[in-house]
Amino acid sequence: MAKTILITGASAGLGEEMARQFADLGYDLALCARRRQKLEALKAEITGRHTDRRVETRQLDVTDDDQVFEVFEGFQADFGTIDRIIINAGLGKGARIGTGRYDANRATAMTNFVAALAQSEAAMEIFRAQNAGHFVMISSMSAVRGLPRSMATYAATKAGVAHLTEGLRAEFHGKPIKFSVIYSGYIASEMNAKAEQNAPMMTSTRKGVRAIVAAVEKEKDHAFVPPLPWAPMSVLLRHAPMPLFKRLI
Ligand SMILES: NC(=O)c1ccc[n+]([C@@H]2O[C@H](COP(=O)([O-])OP(=O)(O)OC[C@H]3O[C@@H](n4cnc5c(N)ncnc54)[C@H](OP(=O)(O)O)[C@@H]3O)[C@@H](O)[C@H]2O)c1
Repeated sequence: MAKTILITGASAGLGEEMARQFADLGYDLALCARRRQKLEALKAEITGRHTDRRVETRQLDVTDDDQVFEVFEGFQADFGTIDRIIINAGLGKGARIGTGRYDANRATAMTNFVAALAQSEAAMEIFRAQNAGHFVMISSMSAVRGLPRSMATYAATKAGVAHLTEGLRAEFHGKPIKFSVIYSGYIASEMNAKAEQNAPMMTSTRKGVRAIVAAVEKEKDHAFVPPLPWAPMSVLLRHAPMPLFKRLI
């Protein structure tokens, strides 16, 4: 019997491409995001290619707490068991702190951290009841060290969700529930479409997501993706003295 993966933020970017690549590996899919039409188009594409694959979609705004629990429970009712949940929905907004754009930083914090906490609660209710599951958090290279300017809030949220997942891993050590944190480098998506020309280390969506899927399939505790250049870069970013760090970012 096929295993099932729930992916949030599956209407675009990394989530959409993860859905394609996991379907190619034989998984059934529970897909959610706000843009239902995009989910339906993706479902038609995947089930057209794999007629035996089951794909269910639900509209979800992850900042609506009640809806997060309803949607996750709905998917569990659809499939019976959810084997893996990928907390991926995220926002790349942000502004220099103290420049009158609290709205942008708050939106980033609410979507990337508070809503990720709601998704974690809903996911762990399912996994505790099953006494099994693979919890995957999509963090970012920006989590390895606080970043300046418009990235400050975003980086803090991504460090926050990584810590949340590490805490859960410590709690469940030796038990059948597994936890992975994916520290993603620049991968082409809607979020960074404007930055594409200026980001020499940007990887294509397909190639970048292939690296994510490979790490997730191995149930790695954590992975920097793609491994090159981001695994060595994580060490440099974390330990570089400030003058060098400021030149790197
Ligand atoms: N691409 C990169 O270089 C990169 C690097 C590091 C980390 N990441 C992380 O990877 C994840 C995916 O980002 P991406 O690059 O694929 O961005 P993207 O192309 O902008 O896609 C973001 C996805 O999140 C969903 N989303 C955003 N706000 C939502 C909300 N309130 N409720 C439900 N869904 C919401 C969007 O769906 P709707 O708009 O349809 O709701 C969309 O499917 C994010 O967590 C991001 O921080 C990306």
